[in-house]
Amino acid sequence: MASSDQPRAQWLGRWGFMLAATGSAVGLGNIWKFPYMTGEYGGGAFVLVYLICILAVGVPVMMAEIAFGRRGRGSPIDAFRRMATESGRSPVWSLLGWMSMLAGFMILSFYVVVAGWSFSYLWKTLSGGLNAGSVEALAAVFDANNASPWNLGFWSTLVTLATMVIVGKGVQEGIEKNVRWMMPGLVLMLVLLIGFGAFSGGFGEALAFLFSFNAGSLSSAGMLAALGHAFFTLSLAAGAILTYGSYLPKSASIGRTTLAVALADTVVALMAGLAIFPVIFANGMDPASGPGLIFMSLPVAFQAMPLGTLFEVLFFVMLSMAALTSSISMVEATVSWLCDSKGFTRRSAAWSTGIVLWLVSTAAMLSFNLGADWTLAGRTFFDWLDYLTSRWMMPLGGLGTVILAGFLLDKHVMRDELDLSPTLYTLWLLMARYVSPLGILVIFADQLALFTVSFAQHWPWLLMILVAMIAVGEFLSPRLRTSLAPR
Ligand code: PFF
Repeated sequence: MASSDQPRAQWLGRWGFMLAATGSAVGLGNIWKFPYMTGEYGGGAFVLVYLICILAVGVPVMMAEIAFGRRGRGSPIDAFRRMATESGRSPVWSLLGWMSMLAGFMILSFYVVVAGWSFSYLWKTLSGGLNAGSVEALAAVFDANNASPWNLGFWSTLVTLATMVIVGKGVQEGIEKNVRWMMPGLVLMLVLLIGFGAFSGGFGEALAFLFSFNAGSLSSAGMLAALGHAFFTLSLAAGAILTYGSYLPKSASIGRTTLAVALADTVVALMAGLAIFPVIFANGMDPASGPGLIFMSLPVAFQAMPLGTLFEVLFFVMLSMAALTSSISMVEATVSWLCDSKGFTRRSAAWSTGIVLWLVSTAAMLSFNLGADWTLAGRTFFDWLDYLTSRWMMPLGGLGTVILAGFLLDKHVMRDELDLSPTLYTLWLLMARYVSPLGILVIFADQLALFTVSFAQHWPWLLMILVAMIAVGEFLSPRLRTSLAPR
């Protein structure tokens, strides 16, 4: 029986959505990807742009997405269609839902490989396989771990299985109860690691690296990466937040919830940076070491600590859990669509998705061994999944969402759903109409190489000025003032 005639599941407690959305946002993106991207793109300048992107683009998009989920009451495909048609717009907007569902699925296909690293490191710690005292020796361990498709495939398959078991159990049993204790545990481990870093001899250098703004190191590639990562780290435009929002009761405040999730996510990312970079600098390691960064640096810190092995076990447990609370959110959109629209039971939806996922993620896993040479334009299959989702699909989905929310829906819709004070609503509207779309268009402009080389050096600033000018103009315009008139 199609479950569309059943009442939609809701979160158990007041904190259910908060915990699950934070669980989705906080994951490998914060602890694995953010530090290595910061290393590659030169430190403080990247961090600053990333923070601006979270506030100026991420928060407004997330608010719109949660509102779409809650009002559209369904999977992204249904929610976008309902929202658009409710305001007399074309049902073709449901394409955005299809794209976000696909993005979530594609991200998960490479995410399970990285989560597999975390699980395998947990096992290595328990079995004594990480007792290599130097960063170089750990780099060799990392390479060896990737070299065998059987080994790597085993761990990513395990993650796929674990994800599907949890998702199959449903919203409350599977998701909500698991995230309740994982987040505090993870933060505690990071505090411990930062404490260690503070005495490692590299802390001052790490602070300077992360927080000193050096405009010279601000490349346009770094800015684009920062914007893409803001989407990734907040789980935006991948179906996750929208679908979680569809289980949100009407009484919850979308604005407050969004700010809390974005803040928690940002704090964890910065804490991860403060835990990792002191070790990197104290050991003379290159911060731009790429995706293996945390796997080569953190074990060194743990081994030098009293009770280090115990803490190392706890850390990899927490990292694996953080990865799982994110990965379950990536398939939630697909699973909820199969249940709502195709009449699947939750369990069969989870397992059918899992089988397709396993096939695609196996191909992604092979990028580290057998398929390392199967490249297109210099990217492996794994790299393509990451690149297409972070640089294209998520920003495009975010752009569509804010355009629909900011310009095309009936005026009362977002105002009712967000339920903000007039000033805050105005602020949201300005961000959703101008700041977010223009920020996102910057990505595409760069990708399409529409700018000349010299213009390319200055376009971020020119666009920011343009945004500011349009925003002020629009704020003063009567059109906006009418749209803000009290109901
Ligand atoms: N936000 C997650 C992280 O930072 O690890 C990744 C993610 C989760 C992306 C869910 C997309 C998504 F739908």
